[in-house]
Amino acid sequence: MSQKKEFFTTPIYYVNDVPHIGHAYTSIAVDFLARFSRLNGNEVRFLTGTDEHGLKIQKAAEIASISPIDLCNKNSIIFRELTKKLNLSNDDFIRTTETRHKSGASHLWKLLFENGDIYLDEYTGWYSVNDETFYNEKDLIKQENGSFKTITGGPVEWIKEESYFFKLSKYQERLLDYYDKHPDFILPETKRNEVINFVKGGLRDLSVSRTSFNWGISVPNDPNHIMYVWLDALTSYPNSINFLTDNQDEMSSFWSNATHIVGKDILRHHAVYWPAFLIAAKLELPKRIYAHGWWTNEGNKISKSLGNVIDPVLIINEYGLDQFRYFVLREVPFGNDGDFSIKALKNRINSDLANDLGNLCQRSLTMIEKSFDSIIPSPSNLTDDNIDLIKNFNHRLEQLIDKISMQDITGYIKNVWELISLSNKFFNDSKPWELKKNNETEYKNVLYVTANLIKQIGILINPIMPETSEKILYMLNINDINQFHQINDIDISGLKLNEITPLFPRVDK
Ligand code: MSP
Repeated sequence: MSQKKEFFTTPIYYVNDVPHIGHAYTSIAVDFLARFSRLNGNEVRFLTGTDEHGLKIQKAAEIASISPIDLCNKNSIIFRELTKKLNLSNDDFIRTTETRHKSGASHLWKLLFENGDIYLDEYTGWYSVNDETFYNEKDLIKQENGSFKTITGGPVEWIKEESYFFKLSKYQERLLDYYDKHPDFILPETKRNEVINFVKGGLRDLSVSRTSFNWGISVPNDPNHIMYVWLDALTSYPNSINFLTDNQDEMSSFWSNATHIVGKDILRHHAVYWPAFLIAAKLELPKRIYAHGWWTNEGNKISKSLGNVIDPVLIINEYGLDQFRYFVLREVPFGNDGDFSIKALKNRINSDLANDLGNLCQRSLTMIEKSFDSIIPSPSNLTDDNIDLIKNFNHRLEQLIDKISMQDITGYIKNVWELISLSNKFFNDSKPWELKKNNETEYKNVLYVTANLIKQIGILINPIMPETSEKILYMLNINDINQFHQINDIDISGLKLNEITPLFPRVDK
């Protein structure tokens, strides 16, 4: 198997935000991809972190009567703790107030400036502090009182100040050409089309510095300006792997296989501005930008002002981490919008987890425990059908690898649940409780085959529910698996099961 290097990123989270389901969702999806890639034999880096500059943070610090850096230090820890609560396997957590980040961001600015793509002018127009984004009036929503709001619901303010501009308009054709030649650069396709239409509609040069506040990275050629926070923040990705420097190292080579997972609200920054900066700086582009959808809460838009922000920590404390991870990845096709409701969460726990997966393990493994003193029986004269059932794993794995090469996480989960259904059907149709009385050889065979299928399911669910995966493999007494294909080498007949514990308690409706 050829080992690749793969680099996965979540957006870095605004450090003054209170962690909510949106943050958790992006993080869990990226964790899935990173875990999958490692199990597939690749060398992986997985980055998350906090976005700590800009007017939004400065204002939040003013309101809290503390210095911006104190606010960042305090809040960044909350996001770091969230990575543990979600059992993320990230190997870096970057903060944009770190020196390594500031020097990388300055490096990119210098490349753009030296290339003649940055010039001084004046910005007059709308700005949303909430999104840290400049808006054309045509892209705003006019309210009854005559004021404007953004599509994400926040207010905008009119600003007029001296600013450096990046020559974004110059890159319109080159971007379109790049999208055309790299049809998988932006996924899913609907989002790709939106980006292409936006760029075809014409690009205006982008204001990339501010002077009316100072919480940010100084512009290298003009300390009266600070960098626009998005230009600053986007560089956190390559900065994590030491890519934006004259002294790159071995880690920097992860860049050519970088996948950015982002919510649809920040797709433009990632799929238009970011590649334009990199093309202008004559740097390689990441491999993929994938935009996922937005969650609503019981049908309503989630917002602080509506007071309906979903706290992932509360849900996890009540229903369990793997249950939550499974739900968010399974409930909504990755790339689409979706609705969070406790009812839907409970349904998934009871039907997919407790009924389908939990019961399969519990019923079959308990039979091995009771009838064979916990020793997985050896098979004799397995039918070709039974052998095929076990051997189909390699074929299934290939299908799954294909799906994940396009970030089809939901397709992956559905496929694994097909295997679970198939295993349940095999077990039920074989009626082991009858075989137990009249056909010991077949009884052993059925339990052997079922345990093999559980072994496969145990490893395949790892990217979705790492703890449950470990529990299942532990019950089977299988240790030290860190790649999918190793599971094939393990002959489970004769292994002594560890104690069987229920995987998912049912939750009341
Ligand atoms: N700081 C910027 C990203 C800079 S990346 C160089 C930012 N941060 S954020 O904290 O506001 O958002 C982080 C992620 O959470 C984004 O991917 C965003 O789409 C996602 N979500 C925020 N609310 C969401 C939902 N209600 N549903 C799903 N994801 C949403 O943007």
